[in-house]
Amino acid sequence: MHTKLIQIDSANIDRNAIKEAADLIAAGELVAFPTETVYGLGADALSPEASKKIYAAKGRPSDNPLIVHISKFEDLVAIAREVPPQAKKLADAFWPGPLTMIVWKNEKVPCETTGGMDTVAVRMPNHPVALRLIEESGCLIAAPSANTSGKPSPTEASHVALDMDGRIPMILDGGAVGIGIESTIIDLSEKTPMILRPGYITKEMLEEALGGEVCIDPGIIAADSMKKPKAPGMKYKHYAPKADLVLVEGKTDRVVAEINRLAAKKQEAGLRVGVIATDETRDRYQADLVFSIGAREDEDAIARHLYKLLREFDDQNVDAIYSESFATPRIGQAIMNRLLKAAGHQVIQI
Ligand code: TXA
Ligand code: MG
Repeated sequence: MHTKLIQIDSANIDRNAIKEAADLIAAGELVAFPTETVYGLGADALSPEASKKIYAAKGRPSDNPLIVHISKFEDLVAIAREVPPQAKKLADAFWPGPLTMIVWKNEKVPCETTGGMDTVAVRMPNHPVALRLIEESGCLIAAPSANTSGKPSPTEASHVALDMDGRIPMILDGGAVGIGIESTIIDLSEKTPMILRPGYITKEMLEEALGGEVCIDPGIIAADSMKKPKAPGMKYKHYAPKADLVLVEGKTDRVVAEINRLAAKKQEAGLRVGVIATDETRDRYQADLVFSIGAREDEDAIARHLYKLLREFDDQNVDAIYSESFATPRIGQAIMNRLLKAAGHQVIQI
């Protein structure tokens, strides 16, 4: 299959391009498109055949449900068995935006879209191209991240092209995304709202909007690794680079010294070593490849650059990667959740 790559200016959306993409979606085909978090691989969410194509293109396990992307709150009402009162509050506070809500589904949503679950994940993305595509297609759009299963989520159209070229008919290239890590997922199907995947919208922000307690799925907390995560996708070893990744945590000077020591040992053994540093520390490392993820104080930049860096290390064929730790105040939990998974929870504390 030939994959058409179309550049699209978010500030001045080309009608013909959107129309072409929307027609493909309406015809049950796949289109990759930008959102504010990561690129999505979209298909008609209410068509079982279209959903199946997503799983095939990604090589995704069929028990891992998809997020349904909508453009207005009524779309949620249309596919939910009942709309919990918290959903309206959270939509008012955070939609369109990087928040996915899980509610009980009704019969309109096929099991193929929800991986056999009786609940459905719903999100209204904050990206003009995504919103226009949903509206123009007349569909609700099921979209996982547009990467091959097990690879880091794509934050640029070129990442999508590397994974999906020849597998889907169209990619809309809207440039680099703004946030760079996937949406926060909150489960509203039970009494106490529960975060199943941390993201840009934090627990504190959710609690403030709801005026009540929000808990975190114990299955996603590293120390509780015996418990199974509630979101099926969180149990897979996601976001894994080809090289062995190890995080080093502690005071900056000691982290730099330890990473340099470990890197030298690997290099002596003939291996190629990469380091994930910050603007402040990048010049202090000796390794084959040293990338800065951004300034340490700039949490947004760290989130935005993480997946791109992991992909670059893959391209450059390094054997081992050492990374500083980024438990920053606001989105640090989301960043560390992704990084720890990429590292298979290998952490050195010094
Ligand atoms: O930011 C995002 O959320 C991006 C963009 C494209 O919107 N999408 C995304 O989709 O990250 P995906 O498929 O890569 O991740 C969806 C996650 C998976 O971990 C899946 O298991 C979980 O959501 N999920 C979906 N429906 C669920 C449900 N009904 N119950 C529990 N977890 C669910
Ligand atoms: Mg994904």
